[in-house]
Amino acid sequence: METVSIGFLGCGEMARLHARCLKQIPGVNLIAAYDRSSEASQTFGEELGCSVAHSAEELLARPDIDTVYICTWHDSHAALIEQCIKSGKRRIFCEKPMALTMDDARRVRDLIRAKRVQFMIGLNHRFTPAVVKLKELLEAGRLHPKMVTVTFACAPFMDTWAGQPEQGGILTNLGSHAFDLARWVVGDEVVEVSCFAERTRLGPAQAEDSAVATLRFRNGAMATCTLHDQAPVPYSLFPGRNMVRIEVFGSDGVIVCRGLDGLELMLNGRLEQIACDPYDELRSWGYLDENRHFIQATLSEANPSPNEEEGLKAVELVQAARVASAERRVVGMRC
Ligand SMILES: NC(=O)c1ccc[n+]([C@@H]2O[C@H](COP(=O)([O-])OP(=O)(O)OC[C@H]3O[C@@H](n4cnc5c(N)ncnc54)[C@H](O)[C@@H]3O)[C@@H](O)[C@H]2O)c1
Repeated sequence: METVSIGFLGCGEMARLHARCLKQIPGVNLIAAYDRSSEASQTFGEELGCSVAHSAEELLARPDIDTVYICTWHDSHAALIEQCIKSGKRRIFCEKPMALTMDDARRVRDLIRAKRVQFMIGLNHRFTPAVVKLKELLEAGRLHPKMVTVTFACAPFMDTWAGQPEQGGILTNLGSHAFDLARWVVGDEVVEVSCFAERTRLGPAQAEDSAVATLRFRNGAMATCTLHDQAPVPYSLFPGRNMVRIEVFGSDGVIVCRGLDGLELMLNGRLEQIACDPYDELRSWGYLDENRHFIQATLSEANPSPNEEEGLKAVELVQAARVASAERRVVGMRC
C-alpha cells in the first residue's frame, strides 16, 4: 500500500486538528514537525508521536517527508510554500490564506503550476456536512441562487495574533472563508465588491474586527458577507452551533444552513429539515473530510480542490474588499 509521509510547519491549534484527522486515515505517517516556538514543537511531537526538527530547512531537507502541512501564521504562508517547492516537495497543504498580497499569491500560484505541485488550500467550510448537502441540492437544481447571505459570527479572537495588522484582520481571517463559500454556493465569479471593514470592538493597535461586504456575481446573483468576532463564546457551540450561517434565496424558495447542525428547506411551499450527524469536532467542521480528500488526491496523483486557483481567488476577493473599504468605492473584478 502506498503511504504518505508528512511534516508539519507550525504546531498550534490547526496543526493539531489536522494531525488528529490524519491519524484516522490509513497509510498516513506523521514524520516530523517544526515550530519557531521550540516548546510548541516539543509538545506536538510528544502528543502526536513524531520527531521534532529545529528549523524549516531541517524539516524540508528530510527525504522521508513527501508531504508538507503549513499551519503557521498568515505572514509566513507564501514564503513557506516557496521554500517547500524549492526544497523539492511536491505535495503541500496550506491553511488559508495562500498569501497576503496579490503579488505573492500570483508568484506562488505560478510556481505551484510550473512545478506541478499537488496543492490544497485549507478552506474547510466547503467540507462541513451541511455545506456538502447544500451544494448537492443546488447542483441537483432544487434552487437557483439569487440572493445569498453568509455570516461568520465568532467568539472574540481578534485580540490574539490573528488581529495583528500584519496578519490581515477580519477580512483575511474570516473573509477568506466567507467569500469562498459565496462563490461556491453561487457557482459563478464575482464581478464587483463593496465593503466596510471597521474596528468596532478593538483599538487602533489591532486590525479591523468587523466587516460587511457585498458581492455581485456575473450571473446577476448577489451575496452579503457579515464577519465579526463579537458573538458570545457559546454561540459557536450551543444552541445550533451558529458560528457560520448561510441563507440561499431563489425564485423557488430558500435553503438555510443553520450552523453546523443541519439545513432548513422551504422550497415550492414545502418545509423540510435535514439534520446532520451528531456533533463531532473533526467531522462537523469539515476537517476530517478535507484531509481525506487531500490524501486521496495525493495518492491518486489527482489535483485536490480547493487548489491554488481557489486560494488565489480568495486572496483577490479579500484584497478587493480591503480596497473597497479603504477607498469607500465599489471595486470591479476581472474574471
Ligand atoms: N480553517 C479553520 O477553521 C481555521 C481555524 C483557525 C485557524 N486557521 C488557520 O490556521 C493557521 C494557524 O492558526 P492556528 O489557530 O493554528 O494558530 P496557532 O497560533 O495556534 O498556531 C500557529 C503556530 O505557528 C507557529 N508559527 C507562526 N509563524 C511561524 C513561522 N514563520 N515558522 C514557524 N512557526 C511559526 C506559532 O509559533 C504557533 O505555534 C492560520 O493560517 C489560521 O488562519 C484556520
